[in-house]
Amino acid sequence: MHDRTATADPESADEPPVIRARVNARLLGKADRLFTGTLEGRVIELLQNARRAGAEHVEITNSDGIVTVQDDGHGIDDFAKLLDLGGSGWEEAYEASEDPAGVGLFCLAPRDIRIRSKGHVVDIMNAGWRGEPVAVLPDCGGPETGTIVQFEDDEWSHAIVSPLAVFSGLNVAVDDCPCPREAFVRKRAVHHPALGCRIEVREAEKLTSWHRAVRRERVYGDNVLVNFHGQTVSFDFHPVSEQKLWFLVDLTGEPTGIRLMLPARTQLVENEAFEALKAALELEAYRYVQRRGRHRLPYQQYLRARALGVKLPEATPTFHVGLLSTCESPEPVEVTMPKGFALARCYRFDADAAADDTDETNIHLLAALGTFPAPFVPVSIRKEYDGYSWAELPVVRKVTLTVGKELHSAGLWSGTLTCVDTLAIAVETSDGKVFSSPVCLAKAPPPEGKDGWCDDAVLVTWDAKDELVPSQIWYHLGGWSEDGDTYDTQLNDFEQELNRFWADLLGPDEQLRRSILAAVTEIRPEWQTVLVAHNGTVTIRLPDGSEKVIRPPDLLKKKSPQK
Ligand SMILES: Nc1ncnc2c1ncn2[C@@H]1O[C@H](COP(=O)(O)OP(=O)(O)OP(=O)(O)O)[C@@H](O)[C@H]1O
Ligand SMILES: [Mg+2]
Repeated sequence: MHDRTATADPESADEPPVIRARVNARLLGKADRLFTGTLEGRVIELLQNARRAGAEHVEITNSDGIVTVQDDGHGIDDFAKLLDLGGSGWEEAYEASEDPAGVGLFCLAPRDIRIRSKGHVVDIMNAGWRGEPVAVLPDCGGPETGTIVQFEDDEWSHAIVSPLAVFSGLNVAVDDCPCPREAFVRKRAVHHPALGCRIEVREAEKLTSWHRAVRRERVYGDNVLVNFHGQTVSFDFHPVSEQKLWFLVDLTGEPTGIRLMLPARTQLVENEAFEALKAALELEAYRYVQRRGRHRLPYQQYLRARALGVKLPEATPTFHVGLLSTCESPEPVEVTMPKGFALARCYRFDADAAADDTDETNIHLLAALGTFPAPFVPVSIRKEYDGYSWAELPVVRKVTLTVGKELHSAGLWSGTLTCVDTLAIAVETSDGKVFSSPVCLAKAPPPEGKDGWCDDAVLVTWDAKDELVPSQIWYHLGGWSEDGDTYDTQLNDFEQELNRFWADLLGPDEQLRRSILAAVTEIRPEWQTVLVAHNGTVTIRLPDGSEKVIRPPDLLKKKSPQK
């Protein structure tokens, strides 16, 4: 049995033993390996320090592999702060607004660096980063104001620095060439003092190329950009279903709970302020949509906006004429809506209430191929729009298919095609109307008692041959398959199968007659009769009574041997 008394602390028998977080000096010994940062990361840290020091200008120069960063800030009073891992020498206000961690400069470790400010200079080298004393020496000829930081690094080129400087609020120049400087958000951005930021909602196409360039760790789909005084992080958040909306969040310098994850500072900490930020973004999204005055948001989001106190207009009526998708290839026969025809006069179809998709197809085909005294226009409206007044339309209730006598039937492509002498579809609608018409194409219902998948069965009348193009029939027989040949090749194969079907309908030998006819049509000049003998000899009689005889090659050889 476990002996509990053996582990008890004899001096605090009543109090439980406690543990406490502390920084072990060994960590400092490894400080030069804590941050294996990137060049971008180093640029960000040094620009950030310059800005916090109140600088307006930062001059970056590259010379013989040495980078020099000079700012015109208030300079360094306490050099000890430079190497105080976890300690900062900035004014109190920065604590609440920017959460300095006192680690930034360590991104330069273990490089040799020289820092000059206010008549003093330090050279931090090797062990200096790990706790060895570093002398602060007097410096004549140092900068009059501000600070100079020098170290060995790859080139801090204009191209690398520009996206990190553009929204920093600083005037940055690289080798005397100024970097662009722009406002991250426009004046219309909404101030959220509690979060210490301003938020602007912008359509994707209105972003500047700098907004697109600044994301350090690009993730496809990210649509929120948060600018921490020049350093920008992104995440993805879509409170409303408008993929093209972006959110620009500009930190103002007020106290904020929005925090960057250490040490890389490339993403936000998912804390309470982050949740509050997301709530603010949602609200701003709806306000943006309200200002724009039109939208296509689902009804649930319309209700959500209202719950947040943002009254939106109803979504723009969003519908598709016809019930079959026209985005697929091939396309089905198209249903058209007469010009100026009101949506309120159209019909919806409740796909959930139907046993299979045959009804949906036949309603579509009736509307596309039928003729009526008054137009019959079925439309599809996505379910998410249910609730808007314009989406409440009468529905098609009952579909009846009347099929005449079968003339010919054959397996075709991925289903069965049957030609009948007459074919008609009738529908009854919830507003008490009946629309019926003969059609040249319909989908046959699945056989009685057969559940699940079964071959497509398509019905046509002879008229379909002239009224439809083959691809409109192909659509209902499986259409193009991604796994097979190119679209054109597959369509060509289908057309041949379909031609054969029509020929077989006319008689058992019709296909043969057509094949022979297809072969002789190539004969020039025009011929009157063509006689094909069993031995392979072809005799062509021309309109003037003359004859041309073509013999098989071996017969030719026997008759007139070549030398
Ligand atoms: N360019 C500068 N001008 C004036 N003081 C500076 C400058 N760079 C650094 N310092 C001083 O050195 C300290 C340490 O800088 P460091 O970048 O390591 O940490 P931090 O800026 O306080 O915090 P963090 O960068 O982790 O957010 C600063 O707090 C500041 O006192
Ligand atoms: Mg810093």
